Amino acid sequence: MKKRILVLHMGRTGHTARVARKIMESVVESGGDCDLMDITEATYEGVDWDRYDAVVIGAAVLYGTYPKIVFRFIKENRAQLEARPNSFFNLSVVARTPAKATVEGNRYMQKFLELSPWQPKDLKVIAGKVDYPNWKWYDRLMIQLIMKMTKGPTDPTSVIDYTDWDDVSDYGRHVLALAD
Ligand SMILES: Cc1cc2nc3c(=O)[nH]c(=O)nc-3n(C[C@H](O)[C@H](O)[C@H](O)COP(=O)(O)O)c2cc1C
Repeated sequence: MKKRILVLHMGRTGHTARVARKIMESVVESGGDCDLMDITEATYEGVDWDRYDAVVIGAAVLYGTYPKIVFRFIKENRAQLEARPNSFFNLSVVARTPAKATVEGNRYMQKFLELSPWQPKDLKVIAGKVDYPNWKWYDRLMIQLIMKMTKGPTDPTSVIDYTDWDDVSDYGRHVLALAD
């Protein structure tokens, strides 16, 4: 029987959704089944948990934390998350540097573990995307500040995808293996 993975995702401008889709493609290429769900949909419409052998949650870091609905979903579904193999990944631009691309070195991952009643054992840090032209002026300014502090790009025309897509595919194969 094929294993079926659920990938739940939450971001603001679509990059987390794109990473979730890449995970899905990797799971399917490796012989599994996979569904994607936005966490807003999962929260309000519910999840048919019996269909899934493993679950992955992915969220973008926005101003040092995560969209509130991620924690609401986790709180309301903690027992189901814990009832099957599970994994959490985060997306941030600070993870573009190797030191901040590890679970221990990424303070946002530590923050997630502080805020979440669900304590996933399997964690993954993924570098996100800088997209100044598409961000609102206020967000652009704030992220330019973060970048200045972390010696990253501040040119307001920059669009830089820091995601290592082969590594995301490896993670997809890894989560399928978790379900076995
Ligand atoms: C409003 C906003 C705030 C952000 N805050 C942070 C931050 O505090 N630290 C960081 O490393 N990245 C931050 N980022 C970068 C995002 O985590 C990154 O761009 C990610 O790829 C966004 O995914 P999304 O398109 O799914 O929203 C921020 C991005 C936005 C748009």
